[in-house]
Amino acid sequence: MSPSINRQWRLAQRPVGDVKPGDLVLQESPKPVPGKGQILVRNLYLSLDPTNRIWMSDMDQYMPPVEIGDVMRGGTLGVVEHSNADGFAPGDIVILPYCRYVVDPVQLEIREGHITRIDGGLDAKLMRDWLEDGRQNERDRDPFAVSHLGWGMNPQAPWYWMALHGDDPERNRAAARVFPGNFLFSTGPNTQGGGKRSTRGHYDVPMRDCTVELDGRTIIDRGRFTDPRLVVAREQR
Ligand SMILES: [Fe+2]
Repeated sequence: MSPSINRQWRLAQRPVGDVKPGDLVLQESPKPVPGKGQILVRNLYLSLDPTNRIWMSDMDQYMPPVEIGDVMRGGTLGVVEHSNADGFAPGDIVILPYCRYVVDPVQLEIREGHITRIDGGLDAKLMRDWLEDGRQNERDRDPFAVSHLGWGMNPQAPWYWMALHGDDPERNRAAARVFPGNFLFSTGPNTQGGGKRSTRGHYDVPMRDCTVELDGRTIIDRGRFTDPRLVVAREQR
């Protein structure tokens, strides 16, 4: 079957006893195009558990039952094929290879863990050309790989430090990565995390005002910690 087809098992009727042919129908539709802020995932594995049978019944249970006509629910493992992540906004900081504030929006298209397109103005051009120059040959995509991610908690490192004190790399490279609530987006090497990508094409961007979820729980809401245990008191110096 064509990979451009989205195949779905839909619940046609509630089974009585064992699941029988006709209880589920296979429906095909065109592969959806992800909208703004959405990602497209290609499922590799679909789990089939005893609870699937419970979800097919209209009975009191721990989750809402699958409605007649709806896609049969199941846990999956998949790969992101297409991402419409927003990219960078003015005020985010490019700390590697430059020490500069992002001054115009940068739109990134990410497919299968790699940036495939960078749109915008000067900041997009700086990013594109630096990562292009980090390639070792025409097939090398390592500089464009999404790499290490993280967030900061250090209240002694305000994001406006570089505007106050200048762009000296030795002074900024650590501070700009740790200010509270930032989310670090990076591309390129992953050797410090035990990976094998050692490319010199490397981009580190602490991003401001992000919302971060872990296991479905928001830990940073638009740049602010939602859990007070993550907030470190600032010392006045
Ligand atoms: Fe980095």
